Amino acid sequence: MSIVDFHNHVIPGVDDGASSDAEAAAALRAFIAHNTRQIIATPHVDGSLTLRRAAIDERLAEIDVGWARLQDIAREHAPDMQIHRGAEVMLDTPEPDLSDERLRLAGTHFALCEYPFMAVPPNSTGVLNRMVAAGVTPIIAHPERYAGVDEKCTLPLRWRAAGALLQVNAGSITGRYGEQARFNALAILENALADYVCSDFHSRGRPSTSGAAKLLTEAGGVEQLQLLTSVNPTRLLQGEMPLPVAPLRLRLGVKDRLRRWMR
Ligand SMILES: [Fe+2]
Repeated sequence: MSIVDFHNHVIPGVDDGASSDAEAAAALRAFIAHNTRQIIATPHVDGSLTLRRAAIDERLAEIDVGWARLQDIAREHAPDMQIHRGAEVMLDTPEPDLSDERLRLAGTHFALCEYPFMAVPPNSTGVLNRMVAAGVTPIIAHPERYAGVDEKCTLPLRWRAAGALLQVNAGSITGRYGEQARFNALAILENALADYVCSDFHSRGRPSTSGAAKLLTEAGGVEQLQLLTSVNPTRLLQGEMPLPVAPLRLRLGVKDRLRRWMR
């Protein structure tokens, strides 16, 4: 089953992802080498820009240029790949305006969002409630990585209750962001709170998705893996809500081994 990835930074020259056409081409080839043939490219956009017409027009025009370049690069280097457009919107304002479809995922009602600087504002659900009321379904990127999230999953539970969906980073499962993010990611999966796993690939090295796939398979989570990386992202592209994912039941000893690998 091939992976569909809707969180990555492969559009050249528009954020901290691919810095050149060559890096973007290498990133697309790396995706193909890791069983990923459909992606939504999601450059960073500050939500606060959406409240200022000239500022958001300028930012989106800049991304339009990179997006056109990426189309040319894909035609030459990855003709089999299907690439859609999206954004990763920073929730640095309580009321972002996501009415421009370039700020949502592949023109659907889903929007990929992150809280600023890995810190969650005190009333983090207000912005989610307002988005849902406006017909937008927020997907919180890497819930496992924020300060204030722990293995009790209090904040992720609140976000879900506010109508948000959750996207865990593959690299968190492999330990790329440290022990706390890894254990938070596993706790989110064990509590069946994640809807998706994506790469958040920044076009350097290789996407972490196949490493995470290996770990989840070893941990007895093949069914969850397929839902998280393929079935649910495919549904997203069709504008459909994700299917429920069963709690990951880590096989006896797996969690201990993961703990040891981290030391
Ligand atoms: Fe990202």
